[in-house]
Amino acid sequence: MATDKIQRTLAMIKPDAIDNSPDIEKVIMDEGFTVVERRRVRLTRPEAEEFYGEHRGKSFYSSLIEYMTSGEVLALILAGDDAITHWRKVLGPTQVSRAREEAPESIRARFGDPDNDSNNAVHGSDSVTSAQREIKFFFPDLTLEPVLTGEGAKEY
Ligand code: TYD
Ligand code: MG
Repeated sequence: MATDKIQRTLAMIKPDAIDNSPDIEKVIMDEGFTVVERRRVRLTRPEAEEFYGEHRGKSFYSSLIEYMTSGEVLALILAGDDAITHWRKVLGPTQVSRAREEAPESIRARFGDPDNDSNNAVHGSDSVTSAQREIKFFFPDLTLEPVLTGEGAKEY
């Protein structure tokens, strides 16, 4: 899947999977990502609400916030070829039970909880805009050089 499009994305190992972070980081290495920055942090409620603001009002929102503030998370900036799509593919489908059926090798299938939709082990940005916002969220003081796309354009 070589597209010559170096991107950055925000990966997060969620509270239920933090004890599995060495195994998950091994997958990250084996998939060829570069870890640009890392930060282990326990999110406050307002922080979790900001991070998942797009889901405010949905049926699962309060349990999601409860869960995301229940323990530490590990945020990682990953860089690599087509990193946003690549990382989403390595994660697998949002729902762990579906991930187990459709992508049994995926991180969510291997490390998520099939009985609880919120506890799906890992997060990945879903677009360039989300990646920029989420990287800024966890690493507000970091100045990153733009990455060059295959067309010679600067992305961010
Ligand atoms: P979403 O952005 O739809 O999924 P993804 O993480 O794959 O981008 O949802 C954000 C998180 O909210 C998801 O990782 C787990 C949780 N969630 C639930 O708890 N129940 C649900 O029905 C959905 C859709 C998500
Ligand atoms: Mg999402």
